[in-house]
Amino acid sequence: METSSMQKQEQFNKLKANLDRIKYKVAVLSGKGGVGKTTIAVNIAALLAKKGYKVGLMDADIDCPNVGKMLGIKENFRIEDGRLVPVDKYGMKILSMAFFQSDDAPTIWRGPLIHSAIMQLVEKSDMGDLDYLIIDMAPGTHDSTLTVFQFLDVSAAIVVTTPQPLAIMDAKKSSLAARHFGKPVGIVENMAGDMFGAGKGLELANELKAPFLGSVPMSKEMTSENPIPAVLRSEEIKAMFEEIAENMKEKLLE
Ligand SMILES: Nc1ncnc2c1ncn2[C@@H]1O[C@H](COP(=O)(O)OP(=O)(O)OP(=O)(O)O)[C@@H](O)[C@H]1O
Ligand SMILES: [Mg+2]
Repeated sequence: METSSMQKQEQFNKLKANLDRIKYKVAVLSGKGGVGKTTIAVNIAALLAKKGYKVGLMDADIDCPNVGKMLGIKENFRIEDGRLVPVDKYGMKILSMAFFQSDDAPTIWRGPLIHSAIMQLVEKSDMGDLDYLIIDMAPGTHDSTLTVFQFLDVSAAIVVTTPQPLAIMDAKKSSLAARHFGKPVGIVENMAGDMFGAGKGLELANELKAPFLGSVPMSKEMTSENPIPAVLRSEEIKAMFEEIAENMKEKLLE
């Protein structure tokens, strides 16, 4: 074999070995931006970690990685024996491209670089054995979404939508994109309440014959000002995410 194809094979083997140590990989996506993917991903992951599961949280939003910021992470990756050691926060192992980037400089990368950044993050990191890897995606179905679905052996997708008609329309597209890759889809409605209404997430789930995992209201407790995930601060919100996590386990992953 030529050196470059040998290297590629070796990289692929490492990626596969890392992925094989993760029981469930769940991608959190949406058509529209700003509907609360990162918020939902962080809270699901924090709840599962609190319950004693081994949990990784990967930020696959390369342009605007927000997971680290939302959790108030200041530290950076450590490299040990040539491998990236994920940052530990609230019992979760956090992987993010943000740990390589400065805070303000924009990341202006074409598709192939985004693809290779995501692949390397998984291949070179040392996450160990995990029950769940929650993957926070960039909005839409662009390069990073394709990479995650095609190469990271995703078990299922959680599509987040607000009850607004435009968000629902775009969430439907994202759901169909996930199914195109053969991935089962579950729906979470976020920001339900007086402002945007409620119930449209369930309607979408029924239309798609997809499991509805739960609804989270628009609430001050859920805003990102506090770096401690809401599930670790509020019993009420914890109960909502327990239902979402249970539905995810029973209706989406089994
Ligand atoms: N249920 C909620 N109640 C109140 N605020 C919320 C709620 N969910 C999310 N937010 C806030 O809305 C903003 C957008 O949320 P978030 O960053 O999670 O969305 P996103 O879908 O990940 O965005 P992007 O598409 O940019 O990645 C954040 O400031 C967050 O704190
Ligand atoms: Mg986000």
